[in-house]
Amino acid sequence: MNTVVYDAFREDVIGRSNVRDTPELVSYYKDLERLGTAALWTVANKIEPWEPKSASVPMLWRYRDLREHVLKSVDLVTPEQAGRRVIYFENPGRKEEAAAVGWLYSGLQVMHPGENASAHWHSSSALRFIMEGRGAYTIVNGHKMTLGANDFVITPNGCWHEHGVEEGGLPCIWQDGLDIPLANAMEAGFYGVHPDLHQAIGYPVDDAVSIWGAPGLTPQGVKWNQNYSPLFKYQWEPTYEALVRYSKAADGSPFDGHLMNYTNPSTGGPVMATMGASMQLLRPGFVGKAHRHTGSFLYQVAKGSGYSIINGQRFDWQEHDVFCVPSWAWHEHVNTSQTDDACLFCFNDLPAIQSMGFYREEALADNSGHQPLTT
Ligand SMILES: [Fe+2]
Ligand SMILES: [Fe+2]
Repeated sequence: MNTVVYDAFREDVIGRSNVRDTPELVSYYKDLERLGTAALWTVANKIEPWEPKSASVPMLWRYRDLREHVLKSVDLVTPEQAGRRVIYFENPGRKEEAAAVGWLYSGLQVMHPGENASAHWHSSSALRFIMEGRGAYTIVNGHKMTLGANDFVITPNGCWHEHGVEEGGLPCIWQDGLDIPLANAMEAGFYGVHPDLHQAIGYPVDDAVSIWGAPGLTPQGVKWNQNYSPLFKYQWEPTYEALVRYSKAADGSPFDGHLMNYTNPSTGGPVMATMGASMQLLRPGFVGKAHRHTGSFLYQVAKGSGYSIINGQRFDWQEHDVFCVPSWAWHEHVNTSQTDDACLFCFNDLPAIQSMGFYREEALADNSGHQPLTT
């Protein structure tokens, strides 16, 4: 017969719960269970750990292993059948939530020239980072945007959106990132399919970039009161140029090198209410120091090669590889090239974490700020 243990989380520390099971207490706990209740001290140390204990495992997904499988999905299902033809990243610690890390979902989507997916909306916010191909586009609330390699585009919570690749383009692969697990954890997820299956395009193509995309300038008299960026699309070339200039003008961060956040030009804040994104440049030979912070982070290598050490484990990466840093995991980044810079695209749940007051950060003090390797 299995004996139920109620004192598994007992800690012999003043201020923490430390109640040993006795026959009298166990019978009392069973009475409580029959009433749909329980004694807090039996679980207090479990539900309020001393520090975050992420269920997510640090992971790296190699693009050279995944690419052919992503392309194969084109032969197996149509966008009409699949809705979205995506191979998603499944973190072994977060399978139930279909999360790549923490409360973030991500996957690789492929579309062939002439294909398009029907318009829909959902409560989760979404973003896309274009990896390869030519002729990809996204339409968000009637704004059509053309997309090239390493461009980043948002499809915020509640917006009608659809994606496609123009006839005459090349097969396109991009990374999707959504806060689906977060929306589900909050039990707030809705989904809708457009009654006409496609939106009417109501504006000149790429109008958002024309109106909001000039650095340091905002258009007079254009009102914007949504909680997401009116720019929608962030192009690679000006982003990279800005990073190169920044890296020549200042030292950057000992942890991240030269990192720039994608921002909402009307507020200076993050691109969406729940998810933020950044691009960082690691100079040739950059060796970052280790730190850790709350929030979940998913990286895509936009350029170059190097490695990251995450909780003592080394992950070597090259262009288009994706890796995750779970909440409160130690991490440090290294560019192994002595001649070329490396760039990491990253999206995260920092806006949600910060708006709830949950952000914490710590630098590794020991060992000159570098983690000992555990594997
Ligand atoms: Fe969507
Ligand atoms: Fe970090």
